Amino acid sequence: MKSYVVLISGRGSNMRSLLEADLPGRCAAVISNRPDAAGLDYARERGVPAAVVDHKAFAGREAFDVALAAAIDAYRPDLVLLAGFMRVLGDPFVERFAGRMLNIHPSLLPAFPGLNTHASALQLGVRIHGCTVHFVTPSLDAGPIVIQAAVAVLPGDDPARLAGRVLEQEHLIYPQAARWFLEGRLRLAGGRVELDDDPARPAALRVPDTPWPSP
Ligand code: GRF
Repeated sequence: MKSYVVLISGRGSNMRSLLEADLPGRCAAVISNRPDAAGLDYARERGVPAAVVDHKAFAGREAFDVALAAAIDAYRPDLVLLAGFMRVLGDPFVERFAGRMLNIHPSLLPAFPGLNTHASALQLGVRIHGCTVHFVTPSLDAGPIVIQAAVAVLPGDDPARLAGRVLEQEHLIYPQAARWFLEGRLRLAGGRVELDDDPARPAALRVPDTPWPSP
C-alpha cells in the first residue's frame, strides 16, 4: 500500500479531510513547522505519528529545508501533501519531491497566487472564485494543475465568508486528487498532468479521446 505525509502549519482542516477520506494509502505522518499547530492534536488522536520541524530553530531557510526533507524521508512516503503549509520551500527541496508533492491553494490559479487570496478576489470584483490542487514546482503556486473547484462570489461576501465556502470545496478536491495519485492514476509526465480513466467506469461514460491529433 502506498503512503503519504501531510505538511501543515496551523488549523489542519485540509489534513483532517484527507485523513477522514479513507484514502487508498496510509498516512505515515503529519509534520508541522509550528509546534502549536492545532492540527497536530487531531493527528495524534487518530494515532498518526505527528512530528514538528520548527522553522524558528534553524538559522536559515536552507537548513530548515534540509531538516524537513530528512524528516519526510524517514517515513519514505510515495506522496507529500502540503495542506495549509505556510513556508516557502527552496528549489532543492521542491526538486527532491518533484512529481510526488501536491499543494492546495485557495484560488483559481493562475489568479491570485500568494497570500490573502479571498480579499484580493473581492477587491478585484471577480464573480467566480475557488481553489486549486497542483503539483509543486519551484515557482510559487504555479505548478501543473490537477483539479479545481469554483464557487460564486455572492453579494455581501467578506473574506471570511468567501473563505468558508472555498474551504468546503478544498475539503472535496484535495482528497480526490490524493486518491487519484495513490491509485496510480495521476502523474506528472514531461511537466504535464496525466490522469488515467477510472477502470471501474463503463467505457461509454469515460471522457472521450480528444478528437484532434496530437502535435
Ligand atoms: C487553506 O485555505 C489552504 O488552501 C491555505 O491555507 C488554508 C489552510 O487551512 N493554503 P487548514 O489548515 O487546512 O484548515
